[in-house]
Amino acid sequence: MTESIRTQVGIIGGGPSGLLLSQLLHLWGIDSVVLEKHSRDYVLGRIRAGVLEHSFAELMREAQVGARMDREGQIHEGFFIAHGGVRHRIDLEKLTGGKTVMVYGQTELTRDLYEARDRLGGLVIENAADVRPHDVETAHPYISYRQGDETLRVDCDFVVGCDGYHGVSRQSIPKDRIQTFEKIYPFGWLGVLSRTPPVSAELIYATHERGFALCSLRSATLSRYYVQVPLTDSTDAWSDERFFDELRCRLPPEVATAMITGPSIEKSIAPLRSFVVEPMRYGNLFLAGDAAHIVPPTGARGLNTAASDIYYLYHALVDHYTGGDDSGLESYSSRALARVWKGQRFSWWMTKLLHRFPDDSAYDQSLQHTELDYLFSSERALASLAENYVGLPF
Ligand code: FAD
Ligand code: PHB
Repeated sequence: MTESIRTQVGIIGGGPSGLLLSQLLHLWGIDSVVLEKHSRDYVLGRIRAGVLEHSFAELMREAQVGARMDREGQIHEGFFIAHGGVRHRIDLEKLTGGKTVMVYGQTELTRDLYEARDRLGGLVIENAADVRPHDVETAHPYISYRQGDETLRVDCDFVVGCDGYHGVSRQSIPKDRIQTFEKIYPFGWLGVLSRTPPVSAELIYATHERGFALCSLRSATLSRYYVQVPLTDSTDAWSDERFFDELRCRLPPEVATAMITGPSIEKSIAPLRSFVVEPMRYGNLFLAGDAAHIVPPTGARGLNTAASDIYYLYHALVDHYTGGDDSGLESYSSRALARVWKGQRFSWWMTKLLHRFPDDSAYDQSLQHTELDYLFSSERALASLAENYVGLPF
């Protein structure tokens, strides 16, 4: 016989979106179960986002998981764009009337969320195989999964798909009930994490004729660097030496000279893609985060947009359970998508502004230069960039 667990909200995916939702619901007395395909160590081993917008940091505090982030994270008041060998500072604080971003790794944030779920007795089932949502068009949906030879099920009122771009939730929706929008870029980002002091206290996004590069960081002793590479490249072709030579080449000379390099402790290639699914709901299945949309990492929007989905959905579920008010659930998809598309626009714009596109004509390249010249000559253009980078209001 299939063993069954009963909960209010069944969450597929134990990444940041799923864990944050489960934690916020818990604080309102709403029960949830998180089903994660991989082990916790595997999830924590993925090096991804580093920049959190102000509203996300606030949501972490509201979820009572902001203490370590506030202690160890760094507030950044600006960042640089390097172009033509010159660094231009984007003064986020001045341009937005006081807003900043928080540099705190996705790994650390996810670890904090796992610890909070443990502390409060939240159920996060790891290594759940063959996870599948069922009967989501009815008032009695359930999720089936396997552990070893055993098939188990979670009965719930709502299923939330927080299982990322490759997850099962979106794929379980009939194709004629959703529309997808997609743009694939002809390059990826090769990222390296190294235990070295960062070359710059603030991030440097560099545009260069050999391609884009980014100098980021996780702490005073941990650097995160990226270079744009062709999609056909593999990490095997990139020794640490080749990586740092290429990175230096794309940076202004004074930055390249100051860089301290060391052995990589992680090296991976991420393809760049823009993707949105509409609507973000099918019956009693709701999609959130990368399960519903992804962006190229250039604008640092992915995790931040996932956080705004969770904000809307958590309020909608609280209104449903505490006041019998379903208006938030009804409007979830359209509210979330309005902000999702603004994140798509900004990420696409930053990507187009800073990367070398292999098929670009001389005309396209001149436009790109003009766009950069205009940006650095106009306080209003800079203010628009800054407003989007620190995050539009939820
Ligand atoms: P995920 O993190 O993908 O989590 C989904 C979870 O679901 C995973 O743990 C997965 O194992 C699990 N899962 C998948 N399938 C199943 C299944 N069938 N059953 C059960 N579980 C399943 N964003 C920013 O905001 N700022 C940044 O600075 C930034 N930098 C980035 C840099 C890089 C190199 C990359 C690749 C991304 C970056 N992002 C950034 C994007 C950010 O990492 C993602 O948007 C974020 O991980 C989305 O979180 P999520 O929980 O929605 O999805
Ligand atoms: C990172 O530190 O990994 C990072 C920072 C900013 C981005 C993307 C990635 O835009």
